[in-house]
Amino acid sequence: MIKSVKGTKDLLPQDVLDILEIEKHLNIFMSIHGYGEIRTPIFESTELFSRSVGEHTDIVNKEMYTWSDQNGQSLTLRPEMTASVIRAYIQKQMWKIEPISKFYYIGPSFRRERPQKGRLRQFHQFGVEAIGSINPEQDAEVISMAFNIYKMFGLDNLKVKINSLGSGNIRENYSQDLRESLNDFIADFNGNELKRLEKNPLRILDTKNKKLKKIINKNAPSIFDYISNEDKDHFELVKEILNKLNIPFEHDYKLVRGLDYYTKTVFELTSDALGAQDALCGGGRYDNLIEDLGGKNTPAVGFAAGIERLLIAMNLKEDAIIETDIYLINTESKIIPDVMNLADLIRKELGVAVYVDSLRRSMKSQLRHADKLNAKYCIIFDYEKLNLEQVYIKNMSLKEQELIPTDKLISYFEKDPK
Ligand code: HAM
Repeated sequence: MIKSVKGTKDLLPQDVLDILEIEKHLNIFMSIHGYGEIRTPIFESTELFSRSVGEHTDIVNKEMYTWSDQNGQSLTLRPEMTASVIRAYIQKQMWKIEPISKFYYIGPSFRRERPQKGRLRQFHQFGVEAIGSINPEQDAEVISMAFNIYKMFGLDNLKVKINSLGSGNIRENYSQDLRESLNDFIADFNGNELKRLEKNPLRILDTKNKKLKKIINKNAPSIFDYISNEDKDHFELVKEILNKLNIPFEHDYKLVRGLDYYTKTVFELTSDALGAQDALCGGGRYDNLIEDLGGKNTPAVGFAAGIERLLIAMNLKEDAIIETDIYLINTESKIIPDVMNLADLIRKELGVAVYVDSLRRSMKSQLRHADKLNAKYCIIFDYEKLNLEQVYIKNMSLKEQELIPTDKLISYFEKDPK
């Protein structure tokens, strides 16, 4: 038997209904905030991600699905969507249309991580990117949108962690000091961690190694202490607006995030409901990325969230079901074409969901099935006695039945819609 690839998941109709419901709410939420949907390709040139997410990040180093196509071009399934949105922004020269562009997206991303609860190799993200504003109110808008989306979906116990990584060349100084602060503990580092410390020391701050985490918490300097006064002022205003908007947050001095493009504000929302993979979403400002990828110097800020993690945190108890309004019950094979034709007519005329059994089940099992589908009405044909002239309409909740002429069916339901 051929099975699905490790870390991927089939979404069955019940799961898709939940996701469609989430997407419906997201679409409304985004449009009332002035964000328009963007859809970019699922694969891109590999270089796009190595140059944006960063050569020495886990994502680029070991988690991307990369291959060479027939022309030898290196392509990669997107591990995230920010890089693609920015590529599209630059390629379409969108700054010429508007000084600020606000996008949102929903779609699959791919990372070859070790699968576990809330961590897949094909997962789904939604997110926003606001491109063009350097001001702290834009950071605060994006953070508050992330928070309010989870509130909209009924989640409590949200933790918002924010920090600032500053701008300019502080990373070099900070990295130097970070390395020095950890020098005495080199014996506790494994090969990979040592490599990280050397090549991209900021990444060592996201280590999952508990012992190392303790050492870092105790000894490592905080990048926030290196940032300029101007960047501190920016951060202060972000905090002031969040306070005004009643968004509870915590300044986490060790928060750096796992992608290289961030500058200034970074943030993450976590939930206790998730277990080890507790990040619901994350994001931040990336004022250099557009220029680094060949565009004009343009500031931007955004976030992305995992839909699977949202679903876990929402802990939906009941399976959603495909709705049926009217179930047509017939046990006479001679009139199957007429019954199907009538089903289509009702769908077209009334725009309601009509179900016709194709298993040729008994009357009793069709009624049972109609019940299972929560059908509001059954139309029951009794060909032997009534031909096609008349039908019974059974109101499933009142458990009442009446006989009406078949050619009055549409007007009957028009008068008494669901
Ligand atoms: P990220 O933190 O790498 O950021 O991913 C964002 C969210 O995607 C995570 O918080 C998590 O909910 C979900 N996620 C990531 N990896 C997986 C996985 N393997 N399985 C399930 N869910 C996962 C970004 O992707 C940035 N592009 C965010 C951003 C947008 N920054 C600025 N703009």
